[in-house]
Amino acid sequence: MINPQEINELIRRRRSTFPDQFEAGKKVDDAIIKEILTNATWAPNHGKQEPWHFTVFTGEGLKKFAELQSELYKELAGENFKEITYDKLRQNPLKASHIIAICMKKTANKNIPEVEDVAAVACAVQNIYLSLTAYGLGGYWTTGGITYKEQAKTFFNLGEEDKLLGFFYIGYVAIPSTGAARKPLEEKVTWITG
Ligand SMILES: Cc1cc2nc3c(=O)[nH]c(=O)nc-3n(C[C@H](O)[C@H](O)[C@H](O)COP(=O)(O)O)c2cc1C
Repeated sequence: MINPQEINELIRRRRSTFPDQFEAGKKVDDAIIKEILTNATWAPNHGKQEPWHFTVFTGEGLKKFAELQSELYKELAGENFKEITYDKLRQNPLKASHIIAICMKKTANKNIPEVEDVAAVACAVQNIYLSLTAYGLGGYWTTGGITYKEQAKTFFNLGEEDKLLGFFYIGYVAIPSTGAARKPLEEKVTWITG
């Protein structure tokens, strides 16, 4: 049986870890990434349509992603262009071991609203987060950069109704995150007992 105390510990110990906290140049075994992605696909999803798709960048692929997001940013930013953002979009991917593009493919079933497909993919991402924690790895979900740019969808073969929901950066942790806190449960839960 699975020990509930260990699950409590795993869930509460999960933290976002950012690229500057990763051990530079240390690559996670692809076999571990496959286990983590397998866990992602065991997320709940309405209608058993599994509305997720993942594109994994690693090795030279990270350079390809860095170029894709920085150049697309440059192309679309117009007068809001910031050199610092461009540099970050170009350099941060190279600090990761793997980057997973998180895509939502809209289910064909019209009775399932979009929000439920998004919710299912978010459940899959939480499985990624928890699995990373169990493997002693770090990472985070970012919706920055080119996430919500229509032009970015082309690269990931996403149709009009599909969505790019961001990118998950993964690496070995050199500097752990500290100082996490959550609001008291009473602020977030209402009990009705009679
Ligand atoms: C949908 C979603 C989008 C996020 N996007 C970003 C982001 O663009 N940049 C960022 O620094 N963190 C992002 N995060 C991570 C949050 O910053 C992080 O979850 C939050 O600070 C709480 O920390 P914890 O994950 O360690 O509990 C995102 C998280 C979620 C769930």
